[in-house]
Amino acid sequence: MMHNSARNSDHHQTRLRLQTEKASALTRAVPASAHQEDMRILSAAVDNLLKCTGFKSRARRNCFDYRLERNDVYLPDLPPAFDGYTILHFSDLHADGLVDEGEGIMRIVETVPCDLAVLTGDFSFEEADVNYETCLEALVPIVRSISVQDGIFGILGNHDLLEMVPALERMGVKMLLNDAVQLQRGTAKIVLAGVDDPHFYKCHDLQKALSAVAPDQLVILLSHSPEIAAEASRCGVDFYLCGHTHGGQVCLPGGIPLFANSSCYRRFVSGSWKCGAMQGYTSRGTGFSFTAARFFCPPEITLHTLHTGSFPCEFYDSVEENIGKLLNFTRHSVYA
Ligand SMILES: [Fe+2]
Repeated sequence: MMHNSARNSDHHQTRLRLQTEKASALTRAVPASAHQEDMRILSAAVDNLLKCTGFKSRARRNCFDYRLERNDVYLPDLPPAFDGYTILHFSDLHADGLVDEGEGIMRIVETVPCDLAVLTGDFSFEEADVNYETCLEALVPIVRSISVQDGIFGILGNHDLLEMVPALERMGVKMLLNDAVQLQRGTAKIVLAGVDDPHFYKCHDLQKALSAVAPDQLVILLSHSPEIAAEASRCGVDFYLCGHTHGGQVCLPGGIPLFANSSCYRRFVSGSWKCGAMQGYTSRGTGFSFTAARFFCPPEITLHTLHTGSFPCEFYDSVEENIGKLLNFTRHSVYA
C-alpha cells in the first residue's frame, strides 16, 4: 500500500486561516455563518421542546441505540480480487460527546471482521474546539477496538481542526487530506481517496486527491458531506462515502428528516444513493451533535461489502432511479 503523505502548504494555510476566523467568531459569540446561527436556534428549540414534552431522556437513550447497517455495493469495474471486500464505516463520532465512552460502539466493532475501516470526519463534538485532547482520548479505545488488514483511514469534517491530524495518525488513523492511497489484492489495485471538509471549510481538492489515479482504476472517495457528489461523479469516482447530515438526527416517523444541515438533495441525506454512474452512501452518523437527541434515526456503523458486477435485479435499479428523479425536485435543506 502506498501512502502519499506530501501535504499541500497552500491548503494548510487556507485551512488554518479559516479555522482562526471561525474560532474568533465563536469566541465573540458571533456565528461564523447565518447557517450556524440557524443551527443554534434550532438546537435550543428542539432541546426546550423535548424538556417540555417529557421526551428528553428517551431522545438521549436513542443516541446510544447503535445499529450495524449492512450495505452491499455492486461495482461493474471492481477487480474480481476485491469481490467480497468489506469496509467498516464510521462517521460523525463527535467522540467527546459520547457519555457511554464509546462502549456501545466497541461492542459492535469487536464482532465485525472487515478488511478496511474508514472514518468520514467530525471526530469532535464542539466546532473549532482548541481543547480537542478530550476528543482524542475518547477516540483511542474506539480506534484500538478496530482490527483490519488494510488499515484505518480518515478525513476531516467541519468540526475538526487540522492540528488534530498528527495525533490521529499516531493513533493509527491515516488521514487523507486531498490525497489517495492504493489498496492491493494480489496484482489488482483500487484507489481510496479522501478530501478535506467540503461543507464549512470548503478546502476539498478533488483534482489533487485524484491526480495519481490511472484512467481504468476503481475509485472509492471519502468526503465528509454529500455536497460534492455531482463533481465527484463527473470526475469518475465509483463509490462515494460520507456522513455529516446525521440522517436528520431528529426525524418524523419513517425516518423523514426535518433538517440535514447540508446543501443537498433529499435522496443524499441517508443511506445508499446514485449520482450519475456513481454509487454513494451517507451514514446517519455514529455520534450526535448540538443536542443529545435522536428520533426515528438511530446512530449507525456501516459494513459495506463490495461485489464485482451489476446489482442482480435490473428492476430494482430502474425503480431506484425513478424514485431518485421523483425526489430530486425537492431540495431538502432549508439552507440550500
Ligand atoms: Fe459535519
